[in-house]
Amino acid sequence: MSSDITNRPIGVFDSGIGGLTVLKEILRVLPDENTIYLGDTARVPYGIRSPETVIRYSFENTKFLSFKDIKILVIACNTASSVSLDAIKSRVSIPVVGVIEPGAKAAVMATKNKKIGVIGTEATIKSNAYTKAMKAINEEVEVFCLACPLFVPLVEEGWTEGHIASMVAEKYLAGFKNKDIDTVVLGCTHYPLLKKVIAEVMGAGVRLIDSAIEISQEITVILEDLGMKREKKSPSFREFYVTDSPERFLNVGEKFLGQQIEHIEKINVGN
Ligand code: DGL
Repeated sequence: MSSDITNRPIGVFDSGIGGLTVLKEILRVLPDENTIYLGDTARVPYGIRSPETVIRYSFENTKFLSFKDIKILVIACNTASSVSLDAIKSRVSIPVVGVIEPGAKAAVMATKNKKIGVIGTEATIKSNAYTKAMKAINEEVEVFCLACPLFVPLVEEGWTEGHIASMVAEKYLAGFKNKDIDTVVLGCTHYPLLKKVIAEVMGAGVRLIDSAIEISQEITVILEDLGMKREKKSPSFREFYVTDSPERFLNVGEKFLGQQIEHIEKINVGN
């Protein structure tokens, strides 16, 4: 265990590669922090699973990262944040942040007409977590939710622009037409990579909320408040762990993260 708490890493987990969009933002805002990322690539996707299963996976991921002596736990996965945040908070003694609340807060602040759209995986949408979080801030907001399951494989295939991405976005987001929505929450780790296409379909007047950006601000505030923010004395480290072969994670992941991935190891979190 490090004697200086600031040197302890930020632990981030996701169902797979997508959470690297969150890590990318964390590293942009907090480049001097040490980080450990766990992608549960053997059990992805979480977005089609039951809350019980996602909670069990989230506990196992948390247990693995806790052994790594992390100072704060970041649940980068929207699906896992939607269903397991409270359960995890009650189990660990370090601060835990999920992506839902920061995204919800930013959306409520951004909307002018109080009509907000949320897009996410089936499990995230079914959980109603974004709606509950937004209504807790301002019960007058009207929230429209849409599951867009094809967006995840589309992004993993690298088809983030062009004809096919536009067609899929048109088809899904037609559900938001005539609702007068002025703000849309990108409620899934993969969707920031489709920002351009989604913005084109929704039109210039609609504000897109990227939970990855919002959660990074929240982490910064928590670390500063608790005196846990690391000042650069020596180079920071990045460690990556996956539960399936690292090959695919490396190929696609560097695009998500926008930098090279080194120090990657395959581990088993289930036992
Ligand atoms: N990481 C998931 C999320 O943000 C998307 C991929 C999955 O379904 O596991 O909801």
